[in-house]
Amino acid sequence: MSFKQDPKKKFPEWPIYDNNEINTLLDVLKSGNWWCGFPGAHQGENVWKFQEEFAKLQEVKNCIAVCNGTVAIESALIVLGIGLGDEVIVSDYTFVASASAVVATNAIPIFCDIHPETLVMDVNKIESLITERTKAIIPVHLGGNPVELDKLKEIAVENNLYIIEDCAHAHGSRYKGKRVGNWGDAGAFSFQASKVITSGEGGAIICNSDKLADKIYSYIDCGRIKNGYSYAHYSYGTNYRLSELHAALLRKQLEKFPEQHKLRNKNAQYFGNKLNQIDGIQVMKLTHGAEECGYYVFPIVFNPKKFGMITKEEFYQKLNRNGIPTVDNYPPLHSLDCFKNVKLRKGIDYKNANWGGEKSNDNNFPIVDKIYSRSIQFPHEILLASKNKLDSVVEYIRSLK
Ligand SMILES: Cc1ncc(COP(=O)(O)O)c(C=O)c1O
Repeated sequence: MSFKQDPKKKFPEWPIYDNNEINTLLDVLKSGNWWCGFPGAHQGENVWKFQEEFAKLQEVKNCIAVCNGTVAIESALIVLGIGLGDEVIVSDYTFVASASAVVATNAIPIFCDIHPETLVMDVNKIESLITERTKAIIPVHLGGNPVELDKLKEIAVENNLYIIEDCAHAHGSRYKGKRVGNWGDAGAFSFQASKVITSGEGGAIICNSDKLADKIYSYIDCGRIKNGYSYAHYSYGTNYRLSELHAALLRKQLEKFPEQHKLRNKNAQYFGNKLNQIDGIQVMKLTHGAEECGYYVFPIVFNPKKFGMITKEEFYQKLNRNGIPTVDNYPPLHSLDCFKNVKLRKGIDYKNANWGGEKSNDNNFPIVDKIYSRSIQFPHEILLASKNKLDSVVEYIRSLK
């Protein structure tokens, strides 16, 4: 298989699919097996096979497919025993789900500022956030850029904390010889429509512990156990299963992924080097030790003074008007209305929260506040464009000076 850009399009559009996706969906449709069933009585095969194939890609022992990335995080937290009043340290610069999943378990997200160059959680700021209530850390590999996982792991071990890696942006990312999602207790992935492997909606949890994998499986499949009687519900669980149609689509997307991933990494280096030559542009710097990057997004930070005091909105709107796909970046979580409300869930004491509780302070998040007003992101599909197209983006940005 070889990736070729449609010559009629200025930039590649996402999702990319062909007859392989269409035919596999038709096959599932005609089979009448639209759900995976349960182990021992498989109805469909795609969910079970996808789990094996995704585990292989991520170089991990176990993968449990679920219906989206938000419940992937939530399930990992629940199964690790995190709940009422526990504190979980989460990067402040991410999609809302990294923290709303914590709220869903009745635990309390505590936000951590980011590093100004790598744009991911600054591990040096974690220890000051740990209290006797802290139970876990959720590092988010923004744009696929790995958090400093070796240092993070040391902190977690020293303080007896779980790590649940939010890998929604980081399919295929590798740090110091190991794929992300393998460094902590569990890794959570999303296959939502804009992700680099997608079935519109979908998610997965990966882990190396068989015991944890069995517990996660049971939780997301109504408390069933592998090879148990289907109406025996051995523990409290819910239904977050993925459907056969989604899994079949994901298996075809997975076949396309390695080549696209390689191209994204190659083009990111080319594009990044050129953009960094523009005075006033700083490309997200890969964390020292990052060997491959998922590049769900490709963020750049600009210095308004070098661009006639342009605002972030003007910057990405100009690019969009010129046919260059660009998106706004994530508002820092502490600034979202939903987290300003300290009465998020009934009966929970949020007073320790550093985003609305007694520990709130305008200066808690100096880096992310500054980055937010000066950063825009390119979606990953731009990294599948030809070098000429990438050059044209660089030239257009230079012309804005
Ligand atoms: C960092 C991050 N975590 C979690 C999620 C949640 O994934 P989903 O939309 O599949 O629920 C997303 C989705 O965009 C995300 O960007």
